[in-house]
Amino acid sequence: MREAEIIVPFQVFAYEELPADDRELVDMAKAMTATSYSPYSHFRVGAALRLADGQVFKGSNQENAAFPSGLCAERTAFFAASANAPEVAPVAVAIAAQTGGTFLENPVAPCGACRQSLLEAETRFKQPIRVLLYGTCGIYVIQSLRDLLPLTFDGSELP
Ligand code: THU
Repeated sequence: MREAEIIVPFQVFAYEELPADDRELVDMAKAMTATSYSPYSHFRVGAALRLADGQVFKGSNQENAAFPSGLCAERTAFFAASANAPEVAPVAVAIAAQTGGTFLENPVAPCGACRQSLLEAETRFKQPIRVLLYGTCGIYVIQSLRDLLPLTFDGSELP
């Protein structure tokens, strides 16, 4: 056997260091936490997804008494984008979360299903999606969805 490892590159920014359009996307993700419907988890997540033509689609998590019927903020935004602008590549997504009225200190981590969903668009449009994860202590910037989902299943092996 041999050891192998996968290294995940990302940058950590202070809010003021971000370019203006990234700051705007983060601001929108933060604002969207206000629209979260999360009476069960009390975990309010907001997402903002920018497309290559500049359009932004926004989402927040939407829960349900039958738990699996709810949906995460990222997929709410992404599916809205994909339904309304199906031919335009997503290029960046910002995510923020708060609980107990306070934004998380450490950057919020998107769940596996959201990573896999967004990867579909990255694969389809052959264009990386930058991921901005907001925390009060800093913002993680990941340059590609693929970096967040190593050993990817992207359908390329399907017949
Ligand atoms: N949630 C998101 O909206 N995005 C994530 O990536 C992580 C989890 C939501 C789902 C559920 O409404 C709540 O956070 C607790 O898991």
